[in-house]
Amino acid sequence: MNVLEEVKKYREYAVAMRREFHRHPELSWQETETAARIRRELDEMGIPYEEVVGTGTIATLKGKKDHPVIGLRCDIDALPIKEVKELPYRSENDGVMHACGHDGHISMLLTAAKVLSDHRDELNGTVKLIFQPAEEKTNGALKMLETGRVGHLDTVCGMHIFPFLDAGTISVDPGPRYTSAAFMNITIKGRSGHGAMPHYAVDPIYVGAKVVDALQSIASRETNAMDTVVVSICTFHSGTMANIFAETAELSGTVRTFNPELRKQLPGMIERIIKSTCEAYRADYEFDYYCDIPATINDEHCSEIAAGSVKKLLGEEGLVKYAGTPGGEDFSYFLERFPGVYAFVGCRNESKGCSYSLHHERFDLDEDALVNGAAFYVQYLLDAQEQF
Ligand code: NI
Repeated sequence: MNVLEEVKKYREYAVAMRREFHRHPELSWQETETAARIRRELDEMGIPYEEVVGTGTIATLKGKKDHPVIGLRCDIDALPIKEVKELPYRSENDGVMHACGHDGHISMLLTAAKVLSDHRDELNGTVKLIFQPAEEKTNGALKMLETGRVGHLDTVCGMHIFPFLDAGTISVDPGPRYTSAAFMNITIKGRSGHGAMPHYAVDPIYVGAKVVDALQSIASRETNAMDTVVVSICTFHSGTMANIFAETAELSGTVRTFNPELRKQLPGMIERIIKSTCEAYRADYEFDYYCDIPATINDEHCSEIAAGSVKKLLGEEGLVKYAGTPGGEDFSYFLERFPGVYAFVGCRNESKGCSYSLHHERFDLDEDALVNGAAFYVQYLLDAQEQF
């Protein structure tokens, strides 16, 4: 089949679906209406599915043979952001917004499902359509995989609408795409007292400031300069009044790297610095390192297949290179288990006002990208069927 032509037949469907999900965004693990709507569409297409972890859905399309088994995955949750842009399809759920384009992802996978459903006779293996909740909380993918219901996949394909690339382009480079992403809470435990008499107190703000400063030595003085390492303290709360030392200071932050070895070492490096700094200034601490998701790393072979798919759809000029980026994406758990590819689907178009970053209160996407993304799901599937 000519995939792009087949998908273009459903352009209006893709746009309508995206706008409908955009109007009704739901936060991670609360995607009840979203999941119900997805299932209604699958019912209409006659594609069987099962509910997984509540708001997750795995639909299965069987072809002439059982194998290979290929997974196409999208995420479905929205963010706690108030949409400020005036749009006819503006969010009706105040304070919640599809500012990360997951509305587009659902639309693209449903549109791909439409085309695949029309061409069931051309399927050689099994296709699993995976609608994953709670990507923004970074625990939806792992929860789904832990149920065992995803089963074995010969290859898996995920994608993100990407406002840093022009609509009409797709990047599927091999290797690191997103860094790992971990979060941390640090409590500096001092001793409260009068601001005029520091000798009776242990000032947690002073110690916390030393910790913030010292943590920057990891990326600048301890790890290889060729490695991407980000250690950021993003909140620092302490104190109630100008002449009172508080008992504690609460800090939180995030840690990123592409290097899987460093990912394991970083919590130890960070705690060593917190511990020694606190000891040096007579304070104590608590350290909580959590939600440590791996880096998203594209398999070389799958990237090569995907590059061929993009060229078939969008020509040589449609296939673009994009360096990895320090965001986090829990599709990494799929790629830890199965060879696969994660695509950045360009959706930037300044003339349509679509140039804001993901997670921005004015984020919007060029809806032409929906056709490209849906077509890429289908083309990758067809091309990968030949290879696995
Ligand atoms: Ni996202």
